[in-house]
Amino acid sequence: MIYQSNPKANYISHKTEIDRAIKQVLESGWYILGNEVLSFEQEFAQNMDIAHAVGVASGTDALELALRTCGIGQGDFVVTVSHTAVATAAAIARTGAKPLFVDIEPNTFTMAPQFLKELLRTWKYKKPKAVIPVHLYGQAANMPEILDISHQYNLFVIEDCAQAHGATCHGRKVGTWGDLACFSFYPTKNLGALGDGGIVTTNDKKLAEKLMWLREYGWRERYISDITGGINSRLDELQAAILRVKLPHLNTENELRRQIAKVYNNILSQNECIILPKITNGNQSVYHQYVIQVKERDALRSYLKDQSIGTSIHYPKPIHQQDAFSDKHLCPLPLLSTEKVVSHILSLPIYPELEISKCEKVAQQILKYLK
Ligand SMILES: Cc1ncc(COP(=O)(O)O)c(C=O)c1O
Repeated sequence: MIYQSNPKANYISHKTEIDRAIKQVLESGWYILGNEVLSFEQEFAQNMDIAHAVGVASGTDALELALRTCGIGQGDFVVTVSHTAVATAAAIARTGAKPLFVDIEPNTFTMAPQFLKELLRTWKYKKPKAVIPVHLYGQAANMPEILDISHQYNLFVIEDCAQAHGATCHGRKVGTWGDLACFSFYPTKNLGALGDGGIVTTNDKKLAEKLMWLREYGWRERYISDITGGINSRLDELQAAILRVKLPHLNTENELRRQIAKVYNNILSQNECIILPKITNGNQSVYHQYVIQVKERDALRSYLKDQSIGTSIHYPKPIHQQDAFSDKHLCPLPLLSTEKVVSHILSLPIYPELEISKCEKVAQQILKYLK
């Protein structure tokens, strides 16, 4: 079987070091917010070229806490995309705010700046307070334009980097563009824990301080809360210790993903009916997913399954078409590209340990089926 993703393979790659790190934490007797979390926060911030990093319990919590840190809550609006993990919208809703969805660029799958601009220009109700661009599949959204527009309207920019650890936009890392940035360490992510985890990054010391209070009941000091809206969302010592083992390998593993993408590009470009992922000039993708578009997506997927090749669809239903977020007021403008790509997208197997011979096999099987 060729899996679409394989977090166990990554554990096996680093097994000796991870097992040692886990044992050390177990024997230390300190399991919450200790030296492992503190060291990981510093190492992650350094790796991402950001001043501050605050570990939390998941990527969804990272987004919710980042929004709360910006003072966003009941009755507010936050602009984002519908073509993303539902977690992005769920985090907005958890604060009491409502998401407003804008369309994506069909080639890059990321927020289309012209629709962000159009929405902000034509929106007649309470002014949105923030925008969340999502660096989907490992590729950065168009940050220079999104920042430019957001600043004109005085919006907070919170980057959803859950799928893009280490990706760059015009040579600058994702996570360094907005006011705050949120990462997930779900096991299949480019930097994955062996359980849940997340982190919020920022260059603003005051925002970082507020985040630290909010992740722990609003405590300014132990047992004393100064602000409301605090929750319990801490990255635990075990996950931090595991992430510390994996972090130094992130760049190499991202490079392995890019090599796999190159193999797919070379072989699949032989069939013009396949739309390959397009990487914007000046961007470096970390290929969290390698997503092609084909008309016969479902039939191809089931053929590949019969050949023991796993694939996925990220995501099968845009958020604005899901019952939880189907209120038509959340989509002030048409989402034509979002609705068009959904029936054609297919995520092929990609993870650092996937052998090149297996990618070649996957690509050849796709060509064979589409011939
Ligand atoms: C784009 C995006 N945002 C947010 C999240 C939420 O992260 P987590 O699963 O760690 O809560 C995910 C993870 O699935 C994601 O892919």
